[in-house]
Amino acid sequence: MKSIILGASGYGGGELFRWLSQHPTIESIEGTSRTNAGKPVSSIHPNLLGIVDQLFLETIDWAQYKNEKALVVFASMPHGEFKGQYPSLEDEWKRLGLSERILLIDLSHDFRIHPGFVYGLSEINADQIRGSRRISNPGCFATALQLGMLPLAPYSPDQIFVSAVTGSSGSGASASSTTHHPTRSNDFRAYKMLSHQHEEEVLHSCAQKGWKPRLSFVPHSSSLVRGIFATIQLTQNDSMKDQDIPGIFRDFYKDKFFIRYVEGTPRILSTVGSNFVDLSVITQNDKVLIMVALDNLGKGMAAQAIQNMNLALGLPEWTGLRQAGPYPL
Ligand SMILES: NC(=O)c1ccc[n+]([C@@H]2O[C@H](COP(=O)([O-])OP(=O)(O)OC[C@H]3O[C@@H](n4cnc5c(N)ncnc54)[C@H](OP(=O)(O)O)[C@@H]3O)[C@@H](O)[C@H]2O)c1
Repeated sequence: MKSIILGASGYGGGELFRWLSQHPTIESIEGTSRTNAGKPVSSIHPNLLGIVDQLFLETIDWAQYKNEKALVVFASMPHGEFKGQYPSLEDEWKRLGLSERILLIDLSHDFRIHPGFVYGLSEINADQIRGSRRISNPGCFATALQLGMLPLAPYSPDQIFVSAVTGSSGSGASASSTTHHPTRSNDFRAYKMLSHQHEEEVLHSCAQKGWKPRLSFVPHSSSLVRGIFATIQLTQNDSMKDQDIPGIFRDFYKDKFFIRYVEGTPRILSTVGSNFVDLSVITQNDKVLIMVALDNLGKGMAAQAIQNMNLALGLPEWTGLRQAGPYPL
């Protein structure tokens, strides 16, 4: 199968190239970048030198794909950009008779909670993802929070407190005052306190399970480059009192290859460069602590997009992803 990455010079684009280039069912990858068109992919993603040898394209000539049986397209652009381009793209795909043969996975916020797009939280929505052709990939924080919270949906605890840390790659490849090394390194701060945009997708998934918790979410930016660590706390309600809470999580994820239940604290470093999520649960009296670590560019983004591609195509979900990251980094 041929694959295309729209917005291929960004961090997500680089990771998609890396995973797709060693995926057994992917025969080719083309990627666009307006500012790097004509330059080798490896001039922007130097880790791919010798692995990915083509040039960035300015745009895609969709007509050249019109005889393909199937095509997978990843959109990896900043929020709001793909939404503007999508309607004319769908028109062109329809005109070429390609629409039904294209599997589209959007990594931005644009089509999350959008009719016509399946929400690609792989472990939770696998049944809907299988066979779907339009998928919106979840946010990185949203992935960590939902995987840490949703096993408790049947018990509907009322109030959830989350403190979560992210690395600087979460903000993409363009430097800003909050991601530039001199001002980010050696610092630690909160941002978008109690108002991060990912709350919406987390609460939407909870509501779909009949749970409407009050969520207090405080994100922090650290000087890490990759990784998310979410600390989720709540107090047991009456329906949870006699339950084995760690057992609920172990049971919930027992057949999920990419969710690893760990004792004590999970570690970001054990997940970096992979699609794994490390999760632990600790209780004391009526207190419940859930900790989740993942790579924001891995399970929080590009690797989960590949997992969703696998599910949508009917492949084993770990195809091309059965890999641990480096340790130590
Ligand atoms: N970074 C993360 O940890 C993370 C996690 C989950 C989800 N996401 C989401 O995934 C998306 C991509 O993130 P990223 O970190 O890879 O961003 P990025 O590093 O900023 O890359 C954005 C890419 O989009 C291209 N682009 C920008 N504006 C465009 C336009 N109008 N039309 C076509 N291409 C355009 C850029 O190249 P040119 O400007 O050269 O065209 C670049 O290739 C974002 O929506 C982000 O919020 C990111």
